[in-house]
Amino acid sequence: MTSLAKSLEDVLPKGERFTLANLQSIPKLSKPVVHQSERPHTVKTVHFIVLFHNQTPVLATEVYVYLTIAKTLKRTIYVSKVDTTGLTKVKVGSVVQRILEWLLEYPITQYLRDLKVKHTYKTVLKPHPSFTSPIQRALHILVERAKGEKDYGIPQIVESETYQVPPRFLSLANSDYETDLVLFTRAENQYLFPNSNKNNGKHILDDGALLKWWLKSINRSVKKSFRSSQKYLDILNSEPRQISRYFPEDDWNIGSIYYRPERAHELAVYNIPLLPDDPKGRFLEHLVVENRAKKVSLGQFWTELAIRQEFRLGRVVGLIGVTGTCNESASGPLSMLKWKDFENARKVFTETDYSDSSEVEAIYNKVVEYGVELQEMTGKQDKATTASITESHKRPVTDLGMLVKRKKPTTKQLS
Ligand SMILES: CC(C)(COP(=O)(O)OP(=O)(O)OC[C@H]1O[C@@H](n2cnc3c(N)ncnc32)[C@H](O)[C@@H]1OP(=O)(O)O)[C@@H](O)C(=O)NCCC(=O)NCCS
Repeated sequence: MTSLAKSLEDVLPKGERFTLANLQSIPKLSKPVVHQSERPHTVKTVHFIVLFHNQTPVLATEVYVYLTIAKTLKRTIYVSKVDTTGLTKVKVGSVVQRILEWLLEYPITQYLRDLKVKHTYKTVLKPHPSFTSPIQRALHILVERAKGEKDYGIPQIVESETYQVPPRFLSLANSDYETDLVLFTRAENQYLFPNSNKNNGKHILDDGALLKWWLKSINRSVKKSFRSSQKYLDILNSEPRQISRYFPEDDWNIGSIYYRPERAHELAVYNIPLLPDDPKGRFLEHLVVENRAKKVSLGQFWTELAIRQEFRLGRVVGLIGVTGTCNESASGPLSMLKWKDFENARKVFTETDYSDSSEVEAIYNKVVEYGVELQEMTGKQDKATTASITESHKRPVTDLGMLVKRKKPTTKQLS
């Protein structure tokens, strides 16, 4: 695999034009994934990958990658969000599968090489009477500058988090360390594209179908990109028999990579990861607020988590975890952006009204303005293979040329 764009061409309909925005934040040091007293160095990177059909966004995937560096190195790949706009129909299951494979095979040495350390700035002022307003402070600075100190009041670097990755990790191949792939599945009308649920072409899977959809893609990606793996699925409040019915193959296990019976008595806070928008992390934060973080064991954590609202009311929330070692390929081109630029470019996608054609049409050029390099692709998959949404159950789909004010959503409100 040379690049994600090349790999995607094989699963996109033949002759059709697509574009890829493959955004990555510059790796930086962050808080550890799992709270630990010795605070291992942790490198965090976010990938935000968007597929366009012609110039219309189709699908976005957001994935966090953490490298925990202690005696050994561990990679945690957390798939946080996937969403479609419903503005143009492409079968996205195999696209997501290819994206996962690309991430799993991404060489970690690249993250380590691009690691940026954080500087702490401080404004050092001369002794002064206490300021009663920001204006008074600004005046003080201006007066000192007028006296001749032209850089007075400019924040200076007082501390640099100088961190040298131990050289032995800089030559690691993906097969030399452990990777955890984690995500939870919970159907929503939209995760990343506001008002996209109003688009008639959006196919919103319900909880059960979504879990099967994920397991199919993940199972295929794991077969392709993991060298060895253990695969876990848990659905809280479900009987083992019900859970195993979802297994895409027999080699899956019931359970979680964040629970081991022999560790049930240990404190949850030292075993459960704190990942963005993750129900486990939310509950952990709740325990901190309630001052119970140092009291709740891992076993008790899972029991209490199951009775939380988001896992009840008949919802099927799948907790998927795969652990093992991976293959490695060259990563190919991508747009690596500073955190601020990354956030701004991401916002172009996540702060657009996808039911408004003029807003959608502006996205492509806005993204280019933020310095994102867009990669052109031409689909190679035979139409016969791609067109598996049978005419009988196909709903009307609108493409960019046909963007019109839409009818009321026909899809069921899930949340
Ligand atoms: C999850 C999501 C991205 C999947 O998109 P999708 O369009 O259903 O995915 P696919 O293109 O892979 O299609 C899946 C199946 O639905 C069928 N399908 C797709 N569009 C269809 C339509 N309009 N009508 C009927 N069937 C359709 C496909 O043929 C495919 O069937 P198959 O498995 O038998 O081949 C989409 O449901 C979505 O955006 N949901 C909202 C956000 C969300 O819940 N994200 C999940 C976060 S965990």
